[in-house]
Amino acid sequence: GAPVKADISKLEDGQQMIVKWRGKPVWIVRRGPEALANLAKLDDKLADPKSEVPQQPDYIPHTDARALRDDIAVMVGICTHLGCSPTYRPEIAPEDLGEDWVGGFYCPCHGSRFDLSGRVMKGVPAPKNLVIPPHYYESDNVIIVG
Ligand code: FES
Repeated sequence: GAPVKADISKLEDGQQMIVKWRGKPVWIVRRGPEALANLAKLDDKLADPKSEVPQQPDYIPHTDARALRDDIAVMVGICTHLGCSPTYRPEIAPEDLGEDWVGGFYCPCHGSRFDLSGRVMKGVPAPKNLVIPPHYYESDNVIIVG
């Protein structure tokens, strides 16, 4: 499949956009300073905090941000359990997800939870972090996926 271009110039802190690549949804999320700070506090709740199971290209750093640029997350929006598409839930401690929730992705099919870097929480059905697709920045505001 051909690479896909995403213009992120209008994407604001906390917003998600979705592009289609090889028939799959690719999420692009702009993370603000609070969201980034929260990522660093989650390690003991995560199954694979440093993303050691290869679900990302080699050039993606194994940091909490799991991204080429800390402010922008790019990931394939398909649950690593049975392939549903998780829902973006950026809010802090919503009633239905509980007071521990600091923003991330929730899979409605069997309740898997992922943080804003696509890292899977412990104790949910999904076995792995979300996949990060191959991508690069053509310019500050243009991402090429694929
Ligand atoms: Fe997402 Fe089962 S497909 S939890």
